[in-house]
Amino acid sequence: PMIYFITPTHYRPEQRAELTRLSNTLRQVPNLFWILVEDAEKRSPGVAEVLARSKLQHAHIFSLTPADKKLTDKDKNWKLPRGVEQRNAALTWIRTNLAGIQKGVVYFGDDDNSYDLRLFDEIRAVKKVGVWPVGIVGSLLVETPIIGAEGKLTGFNSIWKPERPFPIDMAAFAVNLQLILAHEDVAFTYEVPRGYQESHLLSGLGISASDLEPMADHCSKVYVWHTRTEKSKLTATEREKFKSSNLLAVERD
Ligand code: UGA
Ligand code: MN
Repeated sequence: PMIYFITPTHYRPEQRAELTRLSNTLRQVPNLFWILVEDAEKRSPGVAEVLARSKLQHAHIFSLTPADKKLTDKDKNWKLPRGVEQRNAALTWIRTNLAGIQKGVVYFGDDDNSYDLRLFDEIRAVKKVGVWPVGIVGSLLVETPIIGAEGKLTGFNSIWKPERPFPIDMAAFAVNLQLILAHEDVAFTYEVPRGYQESHLLSGLGISASDLEPMADHCSKVYVWHTRTEKSKLTATEREKFKSSNLLAVERD
């Protein structure tokens, strides 16, 4: 099956670096289709260029986060969910363009996470919904499903809002394409409490905990890390330059 790798991405000084790094990972994966969704009012030439250089099969789409839902530099990053519009645009793209495609697995991969190439074998092997550990997230070194003696999922080790139906990160699961196609109205939303995007999506797809397939060797291996890039320090002049010239649009000399 094809892996449909959905990545929301937004303009910032580090964007080109993140996308370059991610494209260097993804280009090593066979049968991967990258759905890259810019948080912007149009496609940026710089992002298009990274995509072209990657040689990956891809869709380059965009969907702007409304101003009242956009975090500013001063906001704490947990104030609002990120990637809602962009992931929904990708879901719409999938339903429009992949109807009738039999085999595929959908994964939501942020532009700043770190991916072991072995993750992609796990994603590809998913039948309905696969789950696995994620490194450095939720105040834990490893946030992971707990697997009991018979290899069955018995719970989660999450400590942040463990009462969530699925107390897992966006990077911790992948879903069969058919599930997305069969549930036309399922989408991410601002109307759920903080941390409930994953639970909202999986519940909407009619999934319960007993449907989850533990992957990555009974959830004993970490193949993805929720790394976050430090905000770069810039002088006022550089900040202005950055604002006025979309650095992504040009190769800098
Ligand atoms: C965590 C999860 O890993 C995300 O999947 C989830 O969307 C997010 O929390 C959340 O709950 O909102 P975190 O590292 O805190 O991620 O979030 P970011 O990496 O800042 O953003 C997630 C994705 O959305 C990234 O690919 C980022 O480029 C994109 N994004 C971020 C936008 O498209 N627009 C923005 O304004 C901010
Ligand atoms: Mn991130």
